[in-house]
Amino acid sequence: MDRFPSIVLAAAFGCFAISMLLSALYPWAITDAKQPEASIADVAANITEEFAELKRAYPVSFRQKLGDAAAAADAPLEAMQAAHAEALQRGRDLYIGEGCWHCHSQFVRPVANEEARFGHIRTPAEENNALQRPVLWGTRRVGPDLTNEGGKRSNDWHVAHLHNPRSTSPGSVMPGYTWYFREGFQVFRRIDPNKAEVAGIDPDTAYPYPGLYDTEEEARAALETIKANLDPTVAEEGDRLFVREAVGPDGDALCIIAYLQWLGTWFPEKPTEE
Ligand code: HEC
Repeated sequence: MDRFPSIVLAAAFGCFAISMLLSALYPWAITDAKQPEASIADVAANITEEFAELKRAYPVSFRQKLGDAAAAADAPLEAMQAAHAEALQRGRDLYIGEGCWHCHSQFVRPVANEEARFGHIRTPAEENNALQRPVLWGTRRVGPDLTNEGGKRSNDWHVAHLHNPRSTSPGSVMPGYTWYFREGFQVFRRIDPNKAEVAGIDPDTAYPYPGLYDTEEEARAALETIKANLDPTVAEEGDRLFVREAVGPDGDALCIIAYLQWLGTWFPEKPTEE
């Protein structure tokens, strides 16, 4: 019986050693030698719809973080691809730095019908890319698995959620990342006063349009553009538009969202059989 504590201690260290070894061996074992590791440029080549939309919606933050070349409305594809690559890398670094992986996995396990809940199970070739170095499989799930997060939610949802998760997901324990938001001016639309009365909603309730501007003039110009492009059937909404101070995503927030919107959207080309 005297030896019992030392046996338990040895067994504990043994389990620890085995898990360390497996964590190292498993990525190596699933890597397909025929398929070279995809570079950041490879995985960024296909511009997601959401990335293009982030640029249109938040031109100022986009330019500040990702440069003038890509921010231009008629930016050539190569400039957009370079900006996408930069955003994915920055987003991934912030995902690591903020410890998002403490609460989120990026690993749909081929058991327990996880596929039905979290979607496509990644193949080794899909994992074999520079953005999965280090692998971000995570260890536990306080929040849902993010393997296939890309395209699942709108950019607007992510903006609101990143600032205050409780605003989109009541009761969420995820912290708000307010330090990726900055002050500026934004266009809002007040709700229809008649409908507000019928529904018993405060008639001063207003909803923001995406887009955060440094000066009131810039925001007013955006308001005019929105007004001019309103569908004729709802033209009267134009009179309910106004500009006020607000907080919106900065360049880093755009990178985090670009990264989330990319997850699960990249598939490598099939290797040609010799
Ligand atoms: C304390 C744990 C925790 C941390 C840290 C955390 N999250 Fe979450 N996350 C959650 C929980 C719980 C949910 C589910 C409820 C919700 O939607 O907020 C969630 C939901 C999400 C969703 C929505 C998934 C979906 O489609 O339903 C995204 C995206 C997300 N988190 C991204 C992030 C990012 C990016 C970070 C780091 C900047 C992060 N999370 C950090 C706990 C966490």
